[in-house]
Amino acid sequence: MKVMILGATGLLGQALMREWNGDEVVGLGVSDVDIRNAEKVWEVIEENRPEWIVLAAAYTDVDGCESNQELAFSVNRDGAVQVARAAKNADAKLLFLSSDYVFDGKNPLPYEIGDARNPQSVYGQSKAEAEIQLLEVIPTCCIVRTAWLFGIGGKCFPDTILKLAATRPALDVVSDQRGCPTYSVDLARAIIQLCRKSANGIVHVTNGGDCSWFEFAREIVRRAGFSTEVRPVSTQQMVRPAPRPAYSVMSAKSLANYGIVMPTWQDALARYLQARRG
Ligand SMILES: NC(=O)c1ccc[n+]([C@@H]2O[C@H](COP(=O)([O-])OP(=O)(O)OC[C@H]3O[C@@H](n4cnc5c(N)ncnc54)[C@H](OP(=O)(O)O)[C@@H]3O)[C@@H](O)[C@H]2O)c1
Repeated sequence: MKVMILGATGLLGQALMREWNGDEVVGLGVSDVDIRNAEKVWEVIEENRPEWIVLAAAYTDVDGCESNQELAFSVNRDGAVQVARAAKNADAKLLFLSSDYVFDGKNPLPYEIGDARNPQSVYGQSKAEAEIQLLEVIPTCCIVRTAWLFGIGGKCFPDTILKLAATRPALDVVSDQRGCPTYSVDLARAIIQLCRKSANGIVHVTNGGDCSWFEFAREIVRRAGFSTEVRPVSTQQMVRPAPRPAYSVMSAKSLANYGIVMPTWQDALARYLQARRG
């Protein structure tokens, strides 16, 4: 089958390009097509006629979205809708990447796919509105909600922690936000399987298990062999422009329905650190 990846130069996009073997894959970055440019979007989809389009392109700076709302909505919602319209016109199936930040974080239990969206940030709102509008354009499209993405080839939490741990005796990390770290390689492999299984509807895809940012940082530092002290702090002590959900753990049931089980985040972290060492 022929596949088109939009956002191929990003963290996930690079992993998809590396992992996707056995099919014809066309990967495009923003310099090839800006998804805000409807005419160009239609042109590349018409030219390539893919069976699947994986839409990983997004404005992903969660704090930046608060001060650049227009950009956030024009890329994450309106750009995504342009892609969906062109995909529908070309009879292509669409898989869209969304986020745990569509939830408010007040659930006591892991979020299921049918739980109500209630985004607290502009980024989350842009993704939530995109989901709703995409499902109107293509009711059978596949929406993959993921979270806390890390991997080789871009800025991510473990990379930041490792750089800081190398130069500082102690690090303060938020301990009252809980979620599911997700390795780009494992997410890419799950997406490939979902496309091959003609998935549709909302699917939650994260590595197994959950933790706080503090626990995640502590494990990164420990496994990398640093003696840096990692200290827990509250969200209130670390004020940032965008509010984050306190609890955004997502249930694995929707993914299990496709017979896919993700490795734990600890296993994923070990492989990431290994890959980083080269
Ligand atoms: N990172 C996370 O923790 C996380 C969590 C939940 C969901 N997600 C979602 O997962 C997807 C992949 O995330 P990621 O971390 O791989 O993102 P990323 O590393 O920031 O990459 C984003 C990609 O989008 C492209 N892009 C940005 N603006 C564009 C535009 N106007 N038109 C076309 N392409 C554009 C970028 O191109 P250039 O590189 O050429 O600029 C890049 O290829 C995104 O949809 C994101 O919202 C991410």
